[in-house]
Amino acid sequence: MIHTKFQEIIGTKYPIIQAGMGPYATTKLCIAVSKEGGLGLISTIGMAGYDVNFIPEEDRKLDFGVGGSPKNVLKQTIRYVYENLKDYPDAIFGVNIPIAKEFYMVSKQFMIAVKEIFDEMPEVKKQLRVMVTSAGDPLPWAIDAKAKGAKGSYYEVKKELPSIIWCQVAPNVRGAVRAEKSGVDIIIASGREGGAHCAWRDTSSMVLLPEVVRTVNLPVIGAGGFADGASLAAALALGAIGVQMGTRFIATQEGDFEQMWKEQLVKATEFDTIVGRGIFGPMRFLINRASLEVVDETIKGASDLYRGKPCPTTDEIFELENRGFKKLVDEDENESLMNAGVVTGRIHSIPTVHDLIQSIMTEAEEIILNLPNKIIKEENIILE
Ligand SMILES: Cc1cc2nc3c(=O)[nH]c(=O)nc-3n(C[C@H](O)[C@H](O)[C@H](O)COP(=O)(O)O)c2cc1C
Repeated sequence: MIHTKFQEIIGTKYPIIQAGMGPYATTKLCIAVSKEGGLGLISTIGMAGYDVNFIPEEDRKLDFGVGGSPKNVLKQTIRYVYENLKDYPDAIFGVNIPIAKEFYMVSKQFMIAVKEIFDEMPEVKKQLRVMVTSAGDPLPWAIDAKAKGAKGSYYEVKKELPSIIWCQVAPNVRGAVRAEKSGVDIIIASGREGGAHCAWRDTSSMVLLPEVVRTVNLPVIGAGGFADGASLAAALALGAIGVQMGTRFIATQEGDFEQMWKEQLVKATEFDTIVGRGIFGPMRFLINRASLEVVDETIKGASDLYRGKPCPTTDEIFELENRGFKKLVDEDENESLMNAGVVTGRIHSIPTVHDLIQSIMTEAEEIILNLPNKIIKEENIILE
């Protein structure tokens, strides 16, 4: 069995994270993945004021009658996930909190939600062990942020939530170094081929992951492009302790996403995604009429994006995203915005989470055990 530092630090059976994936809360996936020995994540971005239509019928019941504030919605969601996992004491789960600066008040509310849950129900700490922050600078969330060079201090994550294992998503080496300075426990190096939020620059996992491993003194998890045992084995070879997968988990029986979205992922080739500008920066979508419109509208002044100039306004982009995500309710395959990574080209089925995780682990182990047979140990190294 493959056992890495991932299992030692986080306590799961397998070194696999189900990525945070707004606009949905991903409660079904989180529960299924955690029960099956991976790390399931609750996604929060859709709780922050997106239209309620983005939240599937079942989750909507959870979201209302609790005051509707992002903090209360997250608290209610954590209670719901915990209720479903408390009889599985080995099931570990976490929360993804995007920390884009446009969004910091809401991000702080989400962190306070976790703290309040821990105060009200301390037993939850045993299973809610991880917070994955993403899409922003972690330094203002560090202990002594100002002393470390941040302009302000939003919330001292490690002081307020000492039991939490803090992971930060980094799309480049500079971001990983800043995360290390912030006091995070684990870095998730996210290559440009990943679904939804990615980077403008073309740094794929193949380049980013080993370079982050070389540069920082923290455990690193690979994200962007991982889908099966071969890619898990490759991540380990590049120095990672595990993988985070988004797109692959959408196309599972338990995925909290429309059937149409899952089927589009199976149909799509590696050629069928495109990057436009989302409200927090670059976003990768499946190509259809709606995503081509986003690209047309948002990267007209493409060179300005490399200079960090906003174009068009965040409100205008939000409006575009809002329209495309709302169309998901009608399962309209041209007008709906569907995020996906390039790895959609390697997805050919919609398995259960159980079958997916088992096949990844079995395949990775077989590949690693067979590697020595692919090498003739005398003078020549010959690939089979
Ligand atoms: C539909 C979708 C929604 C996503 N939403 C979020 C999000 O809310 N927060 C976040 O940090 N990353 C988000 N991501 C990125 C994932 O967390 C993950 O890093 C990425 O999917 C990894 O690449 P992969 O899709 O190739 O597996 C999203 C990805 C997808 C596909």
